[in-house]
Order: sequence, then C-alpha cells, then structure tokens
Amino acid sequence: MAGGRRRFCLSPACLFVAVAAVVLAMPELAAARTRRYTFNVTMATVTRLCVTKSIPTVNGRFPGPKIVVREGDRLVVQVHNNINNNVTFHWHGVRQLGSGWADGPSYITQCPIRPGQSYAYDFRIVGQRGTLWWHAHFSWLRATLYGPLVILPPRGVAYPFPKPHREVPLMLGEWFNADPEAVISQALRTGGGPNVSDAYTFNGLPGPTYNCSTGGARDTFRLRVTPGRTYMLRLVNAALNDELFFAVANHTLTVVQADASYVKPFAATTLVISPGQTMDVLLTAHAAVLPSAPAFAVAVAPYTNTVGTFDNTTAVAVVEYAPQPASAARGLPLPALPLYNDTAAVANFSASFRSLASADYPARVPRAVDRRFFFTVGLGADPCQSPVNGTCQGPNGTRFRASVNNVSFAMPRTSLLQAHYRRRYSGVLTANFPAAPLVKFDYTGTPPNNTFVTHGTRVVPLSFNTTVEVVLQDTSILGAESHPLHLHGYDFFVVGTGFGNYDASNDTAKYNLVDPVQRNTVSVPTAGWVAIRFVADNPGVWIMHCHLDVHLSWGLAMAWLVNDGPLPNQKLPPPPSDIPKC
Ligand code: C2O
Repeated sequence: MAGGRRRFCLSPACLFVAVAAVVLAMPELAAARTRRYTFNVTMATVTRLCVTKSIPTVNGRFPGPKIVVREGDRLVVQVHNNINNNVTFHWHGVRQLGSGWADGPSYITQCPIRPGQSYAYDFRIVGQRGTLWWHAHFSWLRATLYGPLVILPPRGVAYPFPKPHREVPLMLGEWFNADPEAVISQALRTGGGPNVSDAYTFNGLPGPTYNCSTGGARDTFRLRVTPGRTYMLRLVNAALNDELFFAVANHTLTVVQADASYVKPFAATTLVISPGQTMDVLLTAHAAVLPSAPAFAVAVAPYTNTVGTFDNTTAVAVVEYAPQPASAARGLPLPALPLYNDTAAVANFSASFRSLASADYPARVPRAVDRRFFFTVGLGADPCQSPVNGTCQGPNGTRFRASVNNVSFAMPRTSLLQAHYRRRYSGVLTANFPAAPLVKFDYTGTPPNNTFVTHGTRVVPLSFNTTVEVVLQDTSILGAESHPLHLHGYDFFVVGTGFGNYDASNDTAKYNLVDPVQRNTVSVPTAGWVAIRFVADNPGVWIMHCHLDVHLSWGLAMAWLVNDGPLPNQKLPPPPSDIPKC
C-alpha cells in the first residue's frame, strides 16, 4: 500500500485480517531474542599516521565492536565507564519506541555516565532493518567511540534484493592527530573554527595516501573479493565534521538501503554520505580481471562549501581480487570524485533516493499535516565578551555560533527528559521554540547586518500523534553550507527539496507523497531547503541537530517534547533505576 493513509480497523472483516496478521507474525515474535553486550569504556593506545596516542575506546577496540540483532529483538548494552570523562551512548537511528530513556544524548534523555559509573541501555528494535550505528553522545567523544549496529531481517524473512555473498560494515571516520576534546575546547575558548582532522579512515584505517602509511594491513583497509560475487557494503559516515564522496574505481554500486529503510535500488558510481547517514550498497566483483589489474582503489574525499578550512585529503582502501603486496596499494589509480564543492553532483545523487514502497514495505507518508514549521538553520555569532589574548577568533573578532531560527541551543545542566517526566520545567527548558524565524530576511541572499544569535533551551511541545511538517531552510549567514540534520526518535519522509528560499505557494505542490525516502538524517542543501514529515507517535524529548559536531557544539540544535497519549502504551515509562544522576 504505497502512499499510506493511516488505516483504522472498523469492520469485522478488517479485524479478522488484523488478528490473523498478528497470529501469522507469531513465529517471528517467538523468535525475538534478547541480545546482550557489555561496553567497557577504556583508554587504549593506537598509532595512526605515525602518531601514537591514548584514545577512548569500547573494549579496547577502535572502531568499536559490531552489534548484530534481528528486527524485533531486545538489545541490552551494559556500559561501564572506566575513563576519566563523562560519556553516554546513542543508538543512532533506532526509533526507541517507548524507550526514550535509552536514546543517549547527554543532557537530553539522560545525565552523563560519570567516571566509574554504569548504565544499561535496554530497548527493542521495531520495524527497522539494515544498517544503523552507535556512537558516544557527549562532546566530541564520538571521534573514537563508534561502531556498526547491524539489524538483520526477522529469521526466515529475505532481503528484497538478491542475497549478497558477504556483508561488510564499512565505517568512514575522521582521525585527529590531536586530542579531539582539546580541539573543540580550544575552539570554544577562542571563538574560532576548530582545527581540522588529519585523515579520513575506513574502519579506522587511513590507507596509503598519507604520510607514514605503508598500504599494509595495519594502516589500509582491504576487502578481498571473489570474481562474480556480490558484496554488500554497510556504509556509515561516522566522520565528525565532513560529508563525504565515496567511489570504487571501475565499479558501479547499487544502493539498496538508507538509514535502515529499503529504497528502490539504483546504480551510482559516486555516493555522497553525510555524517550520521548509513547506506547499504551492493558491489558486484567483475567476472574476470586482468592479471595486471587485480586490485582497485576505494576513495573518500570531502564535500563542503565552508568558507573556513577543512580536511582536504583523500583516503583510500583497496578491493583486491588476489592477495596484493602492501606496496601495490600506493600506486592504484583513484576513482574520479567530484570537486570538493560540487553541490550539483550532491543534489543529483540525493534526488535518486525513493522509498521501496512495496506491498511488504509500504511508505506510510502523511498526506495531511497538523502542524507546519519553518526552521532556518545556519551559522551566526556571539559578541566576543571574554577575549582570549585581547581578541576572539571568529568572524570579525566575534565568536562562532550556530542556530535554528536564530536560537542557539543552550545545553541544560540536567536531563530534559527527566525534567519532563517530573513536570519540573522551570529553570530547565521553555516550551516556546519559535515555529518560524522571528526576523524574516532573504535567507539565501544578502545576510542581515546583525548576525548575532539568541540563546535558550527552548522546545516545541507536541501532542501525541501530531503529524508534523518541517521545512529546513539553509541561510547564507557566514557562508551557505550543507547541514546534515538528524532527528532522534523518528524516521521522517523527505517530501521536497530545492535551492534558494522555500516558497510555499509553488514548492508544496511539487512534494512527493508517494514514495519519498525515509531517513533519520538529511542534508539541508547548500543555499537550499528540504521538507520533512513525521508523525509524533513516540512520547519523550527528542533532539534534532546538525550532525557536524562543530555545529552541534555551536548550538545548531532544538528539541521536540512529545507528550503522552491517552492509552497506557502511549506513555513515557518511568526511568530505569540505574539512570545516571546529574
Ligand atoms: Cu548520531 Cu544526536 O546523533
């Protein structure tokens, strides 16, 4: 049933079908398991680019362990914090239906887990399958604390595409020779942009294009393939601050999944993946390769329009048809990637995504909307106030900030979800986040003279089951840039997008309400807009933020406060007894 109206069962026939469907689903329900993992957060010594340092890890591993569950399973992750820093974990993209206390963003759904303390994240995976990931959600700790979360279909349920020979999680990351915590704290102190990373990585490995890399197994990710076989790469962009182009030399990829929802398969030679996003792609190995070319380069490089500096390097991994000496990785021809600022290539790729919208996986796109919001997203500034060495290093001697509707999110000192549960809002949050910008201007044209932001911990309260539309509009303040916006607790449909300023009278008519892609993270195009819809059927407090960590640190975030519904299973349950205290 493509283009889903919400369905209600009124007739006896319909009720019979509904009951039958539940009974038929029983074997899978019975097969649902509890999967338990233990995360010991510890410091471990690693070397990359000839720099040896101690980094926060899960169980001493970098990247962290792979979690594998089946759709319908319960997942319990017991976290012990053994480092000298606060930490929390977020299960990026998991809907957390009725389990808002397990979502993980610090000061939103929980207080941080303090050094020496523990917390068990306990939740079920409902109605999602594919690739998601987990990462720390405190300051910039996710730089090294991340790993894949693989959701297999229920036992006996096939993929809606031919089963690949092998599945390989491939996490794209960003390596800093410096301590990322020192990088962001220095930036916040001076008001300037943070130092950029030194390399991009594939499953933690930078590959042969960087200093000190040999191309061997210790610094280069290698995927060994058999001619003619199909491999599914479970791609995750875990980079802190960079959207990435991705390509494999001489191979075409087929995209089959995005953010744990199936899409209509499409072919692409270059992918674009934003921080927070996931993509399952099929790579079919050539039936035969020349003995002179038994290996191919996989490359990632940044996509950005920033006016500041960025890590303009290219990282390389290897697809090899036969064992290769380490030195071979260095000379491989790179796949052609678009220029770093090729916004047209990005728009073109983004336009290829459609929900699978099949009988088994219908796209339940909300057709009617209860509440509409228009949010500007972008950069801004604060007055210098406390100068470092007499000056601030942001634009014109100010401090960089970022905002939604010119409200820069002020991180509270206690958890918003706890304040909500106790109905003690005073001094913690205000329920007056603006539904539209208070000052209107030509958002993608000449910026206003005053680019200072306001500050606050302001939320939008929503009644249970409200159908929401949000238009996210980029601004040109301090430079138009693409912003990967991530919504916690929900998948949304991307019903429209365009360049320039959103124009309700023309653009709304062009929405795709049939098979729009469903995601948890979407990039607001550079100097453009994107429209999303979701149904607020999950009570709790849900942060929506830019997944470039530097912008999150500068306040590009807001939160939705979704109130309880009337039925018992529509209410936020009490917090678990081990929930950390602030
Ligand atoms: Cu993947 Cu709030 O983050």
